[in-house]
Amino acid sequence: MEKAAASAPGKVILFGEHFVVYDNPAIVSAINLRARVEVSTYDRRGVWLRDRKVVNHPAVRAAEYIIQNKGFSKGLNINIFSDIPPKVGLGSSASVSIASAAAASLIIQGRIDRELIAAAGFEGERIVHHNPSGIDTCIALNGGVGIYRRSKGFTKIHIPLETILIIDTGRMRNTGEMVKKVREYMENNRERFNEILVDAEELVNIVLDMFKNGDLEGVGKLMLRNQALLREVGVSSDEIEEAVRLALKSGAYGAKLTGAGGGGCVICLVDEDKIERVYLNISNRFKVYTVRLSAEGVKEEEI
Ligand code: MEV
Repeated sequence: MEKAAASAPGKVILFGEHFVVYDNPAIVSAINLRARVEVSTYDRRGVWLRDRKVVNHPAVRAAEYIIQNKGFSKGLNINIFSDIPPKVGLGSSASVSIASAAAASLIIQGRIDRELIAAAGFEGERIVHHNPSGIDTCIALNGGVGIYRRSKGFTKIHIPLETILIIDTGRMRNTGEMVKKVREYMENNRERFNEILVDAEELVNIVLDMFKNGDLEGVGKLMLRNQALLREVGVSSDEIEEAVRLALKSGAYGAKLTGAGGGGCVICLVDEDKIERVYLNISNRFKVYTVRLSAEGVKEEEI
């Protein structure tokens, strides 16, 4: 194959970001914003991004990993088309890494080698996250909704929730720096951090029961408790707190930052009947997206 294309979804973490780095469980969903990556063979060796040599790019690094692993003697040129806003906590870098690795795998192996692209996507993510838990690449690969734990991997679950509102606070941030900030908090407050990990895990367990019982109001309240824990470890911001307050005032059951925080996006849990009203109210102040949860994972696309 001379040319191939693949796409992968972005994600929202519903519960447990940051704590998942320390092997806590997190609940994560793929969303219907996707990145599409087209790859073609190239007459120059190595991986090129739109005919340019670019270093430290997750999609380039992921494709390089496939080339190196398979001993491919030619080069690859990649082109990215993404609807996922970058650097706001929606998994853009994982999605482009996984889609790029999948398209490279299609060219070199004639199929999507899921095990290999999982490793390649993780390598791509390391450029951005430094110490990724693997949650973003895992959901980009698998799609759906599930519980992720670093030491145990991913288990799909069903939740009675199809749509969520995402508020973009307008501030981009660096995931690696936010992960480092939490590490510093942990090093300076070891005892309290351990208590926070226990609380965060308990929240996830209660939420899973609430989802089973269809208690979205209860889930919304626990989102606020999760947000309080994230605030305590230093990854909230004034804009995030403002967005959470506005979401609640507009009628959401709950809201919290999603992803690394420090800016980026806030997710709002809203009753299906109220989504339009809440959307309009929030959009007077912030950019808002209505997204569908549980989107399909990585897949081959027509070229
Ligand atoms: C980023 O989407 C989620 C973090 O927990 C980092 C990670 O798990 O790799 C902040």
